[in-house]
Amino acid sequence: RQHLAVAVEDVGGTQAQHDAVAELIRAFTVSADKLRAIQTHFISEMEKGLKHHGQTVAMIPSFVEGRLTGQEKGTFLALDLGGTNLRVVQVELLGAGEFTTKSTKYKVSEELKTTDAKNLFRISGTLVCYGWRINLLNRLIPIVLVRSIDFIADSIDSFLAEHGLDAAEEAIPLGFTFSFPVYQSKINRGTLKSWTKGFSCPGLVGKDPVVMLQDALAKKHVPVFVTALVNDTVGTLLSHAYRNPDTMAGIILGTGTNGAYIENMKNIEKWDGGSTSSNEMIINMEFGAFDNERRALPLTMFDNKLDRESINPHEQIFEKMIAGMYLGEIVRNTLLHLIDRELLFSGNSSKELNEMWSLETTYMSAIEADADPQLESTKNILEQTLSIPSTTLTDRRIVKKVCELVGTRAARLASAAIGGIIAHRDALEAGCACGIDGSLYEFYPNFETRMYAALKELFGEGVEKKIRLGLAKDGSGVGGVAAKMFKSLPVPV
Ligand code: GLC
Repeated sequence: RQHLAVAVEDVGGTQAQHDAVAELIRAFTVSADKLRAIQTHFISEMEKGLKHHGQTVAMIPSFVEGRLTGQEKGTFLALDLGGTNLRVVQVELLGAGEFTTKSTKYKVSEELKTTDAKNLFRISGTLVCYGWRINLLNRLIPIVLVRSIDFIADSIDSFLAEHGLDAAEEAIPLGFTFSFPVYQSKINRGTLKSWTKGFSCPGLVGKDPVVMLQDALAKKHVPVFVTALVNDTVGTLLSHAYRNPDTMAGIILGTGTNGAYIENMKNIEKWDGGSTSSNEMIINMEFGAFDNERRALPLTMFDNKLDRESINPHEQIFEKMIAGMYLGEIVRNTLLHLIDRELLFSGNSSKELNEMWSLETTYMSAIEADADPQLESTKNILEQTLSIPSTTLTDRRIVKKVCELVGTRAARLASAAIGGIIAHRDALEAGCACGIDGSLYEFYPNFETRMYAALKELFGEGVEKKIRLGLAKDGSGVGGVAAKMFKSLPVPV
């Protein structure tokens, strides 16, 4: 009640606007009780996934055993594919928890994300017309150069050339951080379960991404050998563990969301991967799919609209409430609903705002960070970037409130997942670290504070001393190569 009163007073405006905001607060607020219920359901889904194959929360054994000490040394190459960019990274592990990285980013276009998988790995013909000539029949015909950009293989090739690594006598080992659900059968083998995060290259589901990549590299005579395939969460865990040996989990809060943690082999009842040298293994949980059955999550009509219109309806439901790819779209759906009821922008939308995905999560960050009494940055985003004809201060306060509600809900749900992992491992009292990578955690205002507030509701006072959340810088790159150290000896570049 108290919370509602404060919030409604915040925005000002008419009674109808007050009521609409109060309604949104009710829809988007995850109470402490609800949070606990979600955490409990999360734990039972984790346990199901450890027992049986093919569960909603897939709980995929990563084949990464044992722990890092921080003393490992060597120079390695990593390839990171999974979000907005493809990155080729050269990592130097210096020992004593220190490392350096050099990396080059290559943008993955929307077209490549949904093209035939072969294109992503191999041939993407770009037609470049560079002249004309007269043919035998005396006709003017264009000369076209078909440039095959062989996207990934070419990116690695140019990275090697740029860094003077192309003259290597032996194949260079590479850790492949592939941030999608892959059922692994070895440290460098597996089959893609499904695409997520807006990728949908047909033809690769059920196939091995390592084989695709190795094949593309061979065709271009790039002297690189893929020695490990790791999920970005596994990479994040490893890179954080390199500096903080008591790391229990690696979490991604970026374009997508997911977690990995260290599990006792004896708890992985479904394990059929042969003998292991360690009694622990990292599990890639694929928790973005948590509660696809909609038993515990407080979904609103705005979430349902997003899910229905996405390219993977009924999948990754938890991810769609948390991750950066989706938060802006939830806000957009909410604003459109208010506009249609003439409770916002005097009932006016714009061509831009009517377009799906036009409200990026980075705008939410800027709006939440807007401390100006007139909300000038918010005004700019709405009126300049999104072309809303005009906005009042009340409009802008409502928009800010919606961002706050959606952003807070995401942070609290992320904490329910982390809380689930910690409770399942009974790791609270001994204390542990949790490495987190991704733009939401790194840049979204108050994200971490809101996560800690939720963890406090789950575990009580002093929780920040027991569960130490920390930014795992360049988790995907560093971890990807560190992973191979568990299974084969490090081969310096
Ligand atoms: C998606 C992917 C998962 C990845 C996460 C974060 O949930 O399915 O593999 O870890 O995004 O990038």
